[in-house]
Amino acid sequence: MAKPALSMKPTGWFQVLWSAELEVGEVKRLHYFGQEMVAWRDEDGEAHVMSAYCEHLGAHLGYGGTVKGLNIQCPFHGWEWNGKGRNTCIPYQEKPNRTRKIPVFPVTELNESIYIWHDLLEREPYFPVPDVFSMWEGDDDVSPSDYYRAYPEGALIREKLALHPQFVAENGVDYAHFKYVHRAEDIPRFTRREFDEYSFRSDFEMWFGKGKESTVMTPNGAMLGTVSAISCGIGVGFSKFSGPDNMRTFVAVTPIDDEVADIRCTTWLDRIPGDDAPGIPETMTRRMRLADNQFLADVAIWEHQRYTTPPGLATAEAQGFRDYRKWAMKFYPPGEPGSAESEQDAGREAGPNHVSDEPQAIDLNKVSAVRD
Ligand code: FES
Ligand SMILES: [Fe+2]
Repeated sequence: MAKPALSMKPTGWFQVLWSAELEVGEVKRLHYFGQEMVAWRDEDGEAHVMSAYCEHLGAHLGYGGTVKGLNIQCPFHGWEWNGKGRNTCIPYQEKPNRTRKIPVFPVTELNESIYIWHDLLEREPYFPVPDVFSMWEGDDDVSPSDYYRAYPEGALIREKLALHPQFVAENGVDYAHFKYVHRAEDIPRFTRREFDEYSFRSDFEMWFGKGKESTVMTPNGAMLGTVSAISCGIGVGFSKFSGPDNMRTFVAVTPIDDEVADIRCTTWLDRIPGDDAPGIPETMTRRMRLADNQFLADVAIWEHQRYTTPPGLATAEAQGFRDYRKWAMKFYPPGEPGSAESEQDAGREAGPNHVSDEPQAIDLNKVSAVRD
């Protein structure tokens, strides 16, 4: 089989569940990055994710393992393991086994979601998962209570698709697809593009409801809005909408193995002032469906897309893709396809059109846009 152009084992944070899918005392089987894992929530409410196999004789903790206090107990001989993967009890021996450890994944639980840190080199997390309600400037006054819950109404998953996490993040530099995939009348006007060490931000302005008297989002006619999208590593991307409404979303792609991945979209719609119901009201279900459909329109492309390198880019879009792909290399460990090292090898083969350091002029203000 041909070597994949991009490794499915990048480094970073990856969503594995929504919080509500893991109750206190529950044990769930997961399979990501080619590994059998278990997620479990201890009786203090803390979520843990670890390799599924007991270090005693290898029983799978996801088949009959149970939570006991702050430990998970193996169904085979009753050994107990804590959230750090340490053995805390052998029921038929006074002392636990202090040498064996079940590999654990660092976990962050935030914004109704459970993320694991994945790194082939087993480094500790070196950047955090941002909070969708405090990651933008001007968020000091924003709180989750300004929004309806995301789960379950705003939670959408498509499983086992042949897509790569990087497809999602590349949307942030791909202004031309808005017209074709999201049926915008024009393409958006990009106003900001910024690369930090581990995050990439892309802001743009677009018209909502242009060309129509009224839409679900724009009952009083077209409106100019803004979108700010921030990728955190390549596994998770957050967006903030301002204009017709103030929706916040994130899209997360988590590789299952070298071929397929799960993709989740989580959407928070802003609350109608005075309404204190936890979930969205009936009147907003169409608005939610609209958000879902925009996400699914992207998925319909991504799930059949082949990562193309070097890509054949139009002049105006070249700089964005070039900068993005250069930045993204850091999330692929040395030796993995997509890493700086493997790109250099590919570059030698690919010749002068390959991603390079050469800056190219781009006018971010060339374009304007819509979606309904
Ligand atoms: S295999 Fe888990 S306790 Fe024996
Ligand atoms: Fe898109």
